[in-house]
Amino acid sequence: MTTPRQTNDFSQLIRAALALSKIGEGTRAALLSTHVYDERAMHAFGVALDTLGADWVRVIMPPRTQGADFANPVQDRSFVADILKSADIVVRPTTKKGAVADIGMYTPVFAEILMSGTRWWDCSIGGSETLLRRLFPTPAMIDRTRAGAVRMQEAKTLRITSAAGTDLTLNVAERIGHCQVGIVDEPGRWDNFGFGLVATAPVENSAHGQVVWDAGDSLGELLGAYSALLPEPVITHFENGKIVRIEGGWVARRFEEYLASLQRPEFYRIAHIGWGTHDKAVWGGPGWNTAEWESYYGCIMLHLGMNIFPTLAPYNGLHGQNHPSKPWPMPSHAGGCLLRHDLYLDDEIIVQAGKIIADELK
Ligand SMILES: [Fe+2]
Repeated sequence: MTTPRQTNDFSQLIRAALALSKIGEGTRAALLSTHVYDERAMHAFGVALDTLGADWVRVIMPPRTQGADFANPVQDRSFVADILKSADIVVRPTTKKGAVADIGMYTPVFAEILMSGTRWWDCSIGGSETLLRRLFPTPAMIDRTRAGAVRMQEAKTLRITSAAGTDLTLNVAERIGHCQVGIVDEPGRWDNFGFGLVATAPVENSAHGQVVWDAGDSLGELLGAYSALLPEPVITHFENGKIVRIEGGWVARRFEEYLASLQRPEFYRIAHIGWGTHDKAVWGGPGWNTAEWESYYGCIMLHLGMNIFPTLAPYNGLHGQNHPSKPWPMPSHAGGCLLRHDLYLDDEIIVQAGKIIADELK
């Protein structure tokens, strides 16, 4: 076999990314998007699937609304759900995030599709060639991340601390060590291209202590754009798994009001916690994306909300018990990322002041 000549062509870049997910001759792939999409990106994905020899079909989710609100464009028992369940792999470049209703990854129908054995490859940086190139998975990133998930799954307790005052303990015994490396190479595996992270869903009533979200950390979309870093500290106090008090200045008050306005009790519990492993991810700035935000090397991601999200693949999915109090709108899942934190598994230090220090996980 000859190696394809290197060019700057976008479809060749996509082809290389999809080949990592074992898309080849005869793979039955559904190229999925909302009804609003980036035509250039979709064309490149189509060319890439063709040149890999995939047996593919383009699937555009129907726009769905309920009154003035968005509704899930993939409804239970719908034709589109059946198509996605019958695919070997769903390829979903997200090019218009937030502009129109999109399938939520924490919806029951999403879980049903994954549990049918379909692999699901999200690419939330689908239209950004810059990010696709910069965050392309490397063997070293994949190895350290997979090793981290194995270590996470063995752990019984998890603790995070920081010089700014964080001290939070969690029970993670019997929970799945989840990894994201941007590749889906096993039945039922879900992943998101450009990501590198290790996470777990802690036992839902176990969080105890406090988290200091320092200036320069991120509370993500709970407080606006991902790029809006905190201008001042926010302290969240946890008892029996729940946020019971939020301390700080005007940002803390805004956060408190925002959580209350959602009227979704699941947001007061931790969905997942872990660390970023992508050494090419950059923190903050224009064009910042969820991939970099959550995958930033040595950051601690701490997300709130529902965490059911089962998959069939090992070291994949959250398999938690924090169920949604309402089926829609989605998602009742969001959170933030912390810099300069320490993370311990069973008293072994894994991350120290924002640097991964455990030898086999660096
Ligand atoms: Fe999350």
